[in-house]
Amino acid sequence: MCCLLRPFQLLYLLLFLLNFQPNLSSSSSSSSITQLCSPEEAAALIQFKTSFSIDESSSWWCDYYSKISYPKTNSWKEGLDCCSWDGITCDNVNGQVIGLDLSCSWLYGSIASNSSLFHLRHLQKLNLAFNYFNLSKMSSKFGQFASLEYLNLSEAYFRGQVPSQVSHLSKLVSLDLSGNYIQTLDKHTLKGLIENLTKVRQLVLDDINMSSISSNALMNLSSSLRILSLVGCGLIGKIPENIFHFSQLRFLGLSYNYFSGQIPSSLTNLRHLEFLYISNNQLEGSIPNEVTAFPNLISLDLSFNLLNGTLPSWLYTVSTLKHIALENNKLSGDIKEFQYNSLEEISLGNNKLKGPIPSSISHLVNLTFVDLSNLIGIVEVDMFSKLQNLQVLDLSYNSLSLSSNGVSANYTLPNLQGLYLSSCNVSEFPQFLRGSESLKRLDLSNNRISGKIPKWMWDVGKDSLWNLNLSHNSLTDFEQIPWKEIEYLDLSSNFIHGDLPIPPSTTMVFLISNNSLSGEIPSLLCNANNLEYLDLSHNNLSGIIPQCFGNLSRGLFVLNLQMNKFHGPIPSVFTKGCPLYYLNLNGNQLEGPLPQAIVNCRRLEVLDLGNNKINDTFPYWLESLTQLRVLVLYSNQLHGSIHGPWSSHSFSEIQNFDLSSNYFTGPLPVKYIKNFKVMINLTVDESEMSYMGTGGRAPGDFYGYSTRIAIKGQEMELEKIFSGFTSIDLSNNEFQGEIPKVIGKLDSLRELNLSHNNLSSCIPTTMGNLTALESLDLSSNKLVGKIPEQLTSLGSLEVLNLSQNQLVGPIPKGKQFNTFGNDSYAGNLGLCGFPLSKSCDNTEAPIFPEEADSEFGFEWKAALMGYGSGLVFGISAAYIMFTLGKPRWLVRMVEEVGYKLKRYLKGRKNL
Ligand SMILES: *[C@@H]1O[C@H](CO)[C@@H](O)[C@H](O)[C@H]1NC(C)=O
Ligand SMILES: *[C@@H]1O[C@H](CO)[C@@H](O)[C@H](O)[C@H]1NC(C)=O
Ligand SMILES: *[C@@H]1O[C@H](CO)[C@@H](O)[C@H](O)[C@H]1NC(C)=O
Ligand SMILES: *[C@@H]1O[C@H](CO)[C@@H](O)[C@H](O)[C@H]1NC(C)=O
Ligand SMILES: *[C@@H]1O[C@H](CO)[C@@H](O)[C@H](O)[C@H]1NC(C)=O
Ligand SMILES: *[C@@H]1O[C@H](CO)[C@@H](O)[C@H](O)[C@H]1NC(C)=O
Ligand SMILES: *[C@@H]1O[C@H](CO)[C@@H](O)[C@H](O)[C@H]1NC(C)=O
Ligand SMILES: *[C@@H]1O[C@H](CO)[C@@H](O)[C@H](O)[C@H]1NC(C)=O
Repeated sequence: MCCLLRPFQLLYLLLFLLNFQPNLSSSSSSSSITQLCSPEEAAALIQFKTSFSIDESSSWWCDYYSKISYPKTNSWKEGLDCCSWDGITCDNVNGQVIGLDLSCSWLYGSIASNSSLFHLRHLQKLNLAFNYFNLSKMSSKFGQFASLEYLNLSEAYFRGQVPSQVSHLSKLVSLDLSGNYIQTLDKHTLKGLIENLTKVRQLVLDDINMSSISSNALMNLSSSLRILSLVGCGLIGKIPENIFHFSQLRFLGLSYNYFSGQIPSSLTNLRHLEFLYISNNQLEGSIPNEVTAFPNLISLDLSFNLLNGTLPSWLYTVSTLKHIALENNKLSGDIKEFQYNSLEEISLGNNKLKGPIPSSISHLVNLTFVDLSNLIGIVEVDMFSKLQNLQVLDLSYNSLSLSSNGVSANYTLPNLQGLYLSSCNVSEFPQFLRGSESLKRLDLSNNRISGKIPKWMWDVGKDSLWNLNLSHNSLTDFEQIPWKEIEYLDLSSNFIHGDLPIPPSTTMVFLISNNSLSGEIPSLLCNANNLEYLDLSHNNLSGIIPQCFGNLSRGLFVLNLQMNKFHGPIPSVFTKGCPLYYLNLNGNQLEGPLPQAIVNCRRLEVLDLGNNKINDTFPYWLESLTQLRVLVLYSNQLHGSIHGPWSSHSFSEIQNFDLSSNYFTGPLPVKYIKNFKVMINLTVDESEMSYMGTGGRAPGDFYGYSTRIAIKGQEMELEKIFSGFTSIDLSNNEFQGEIPKVIGKLDSLRELNLSHNNLSSCIPTTMGNLTALESLDLSSNKLVGKIPEQLTSLGSLEVLNLSQNQLVGPIPKGKQFNTFGNDSYAGNLGLCGFPLSKSCDNTEAPIFPEEADSEFGFEWKAALMGYGSGLVFGISAAYIMFTLGKPRWLVRMVEEVGYKLKRYLKGRKNL
């Protein structure tokens, strides 16, 4: 789902709406004796029924929100009075069908314009929510129900434009088109709605894309609104001030938009407000703080904004409040004592608030949800000991004081379902978990827990725990995984040794990278056939990759086996429909040819097979993987010349193309380079960091792709790949001939390495067009001619290596060129000018240097000088690169996600 509401928000909207149904004038229940429905309307209803098939999954949202769901149309039988059918309401007096409620009725199919639904002319109330209308367009005929007062098409899977005719429904009191996700509403339709729907009191348009509409267009909304919900509508700009004058408003939902600016103090005019949800916007400034504000507020969510200042004083006194969600803002100051006990949920995490937690919290007996992560100060866990209703407790990123350290706690939290104590400096499993039977999620990542899992933990959540994160601790043993229901298990970055533990068959995500596992992969692992993410990277696992991975490849989205000791061929186990997005086998000893079956994985975005012993010609068939973004084949035994592509679209999504350190011959793959469309005109919003990953498409939404790529000559593992990062590395092969001019088209290319080949042309002047280039390495070739003056326009260039060529003439002056040192030009005897000591006074004679001893010996020495002068160079260069603050995306990457600098000698064939 693109914009997930907190369940409580939606739930409260639903509950609230239940108590708030508009009165329909002449409706009555079906039991009345008076009139029978007309044969025409009965026929229309039967025809409507038969235009659908019944499919329970059409109404799965109903289960999610605990709504009763069954196929109401099953009771519809010809010959009976249709007024007695389920979901039908008739007028007492004349028997006309005035109400149709088929919400949660398992309907599957489309509603076309010729549907008999539109024959029901007298409808006052129509509810088709929570069915599956096949992503069909909402018909303009919906605008023809002249008497309609209530229209509800929520969660019904309509697509496309909301028809402007909806604004003809001028009697509407309630309109709900929420949750259709791919519907749009344009300016004119909205204007029509505002002009004509003067009676509307409930307007729920969540998830309809209104991004083409300026928020000012909402200025004239009816001030008699009781419910206004525009969640996830893509609205931009300031929140229209007038909304804060709707004195009747009880429910205001504007979460998940792009509203900016301050919250006007007139917000406190909304004295009837019970529900206020404006989370996930970009609001700044402080929260209005009028002591007597919001006397009726029940639920407040302003989380995920940029709000600062202190917590408003009314927060401590509005005795109706049950939910406070203010996490992920910039609020500061301390948390005062609460003067009422009704609170059920409190989320203040990820602000700049100071501890201690007020002692009144320990009296809020109805608290079920507490997020007080990331406070400044020490947190006493035991103060929660009396909160026996507690279901979720998040105290991550705090300095925890567990008074029970080492001894058995004298209390338990019997209803606890989620406990989050990540990065709390905890050295053992918290004792109060003993006997917890309903625990579902436990996050103890990034602590100091060492050794084995204590036996008593095996019973904690034995039949309920499904999400367990113990990564980044010091666990050493993990022989078995006792939790039967586990789905997500992260044991990465510990010191677990011995055999690979086998997760139960329920497991979908199993991450155990960065440990010391050894031995072969037991074929038992393949029984875990629900696996979607499997990461065994950075261990000492050996043996062959078992054939039974064929079973797994039917469900895997991510397979990461990099940096182990697997040998033998890559098994040809990728079957038709293989859903892999990410396949990483880098850094093993895999041999033989590449199995062509990989093309069955049509969604593949990252294929990293670098650092193996694969012996093959260039795998042209990879061209059919149209989603491929990262192709890394460096340091293998690939050979032959590259002729492709065979299709003009192949590799058009490629961002990182690394064939370095192989034995490729012939000209550079110029036709592929022509196809790299993504490297042209790539626009990335660098202020909004985004990384490549399965986010959003594959279930899970969390796995960031990593790969090992050379950045500015340093081989490093990128734990996350910034989506704007582009590179071509063809170094260390036997390519010959010229550098193609067309390369100048790749104006979004950041890294280009063609070094250590036999290229013998001039440097094309078009390379001056590579304005995004940050690193250019053409060293150790046989390039001739002058360095083109145009290269001075490479304003982002930070690393330049042209050494060991046969270049002549003056080195260009100015801009970036003033920052490069001698090393950039070494071994070109014909170059002169700054920074070389040789001046250009009489350089008419371009003496071609002797064929330098460019045999491996010399090249290798150069390589060692460049890359190999030890990790020291690597780290300090990286340090400088990052601390100078340029490029920004890398700095942020380091700050935000961390990275692992890993150096690998690239000159394997020279060894
Ligand atoms: C629309 O129908 C659904 C399902 O019955 C209900 O939960 C929701 O509250 C309704 N919306 C309005 C505005 O009444
Ligand atoms: C509606 O029109 C389609 C063709 O556009 C036809 O196949 C279908 O039978 C019609 N349905 C009804 C209820 O008339
Ligand atoms: C208002 O509704 C009437 C019919 O109820 C319709 O004729 C008119 O076009 C509507 N106006 C707008 C702006 O949609
Ligand atoms: C709001 O209504 C006023 C008066 O009818 C009109 O002048 C103005 O243009 C309307 N504003 C918008 C944004 O539609
Ligand atoms: C809050 O942020 C605003 C800018 O949005 C700034 O002007 C103000 O000084 C900040 N206040 C505090 C208390 O940090
Ligand atoms: C706690 O919840 C129960 C059940 O909803 C309610 O009866 C009781 O009044 C609540 N306690 C407080 C202090 O609000
Ligand atoms: C647990 O023991 C401490 C003293 O060690 C005591 O203060 C506290 O009240 C006890 N808690 C319970 C729930 O018995
Ligand atoms: C690319 O470079 C060539 C040669 O320097 C120049 O003539 C051409 O205009 C440039 N193209 C673009 C799109 O800048």
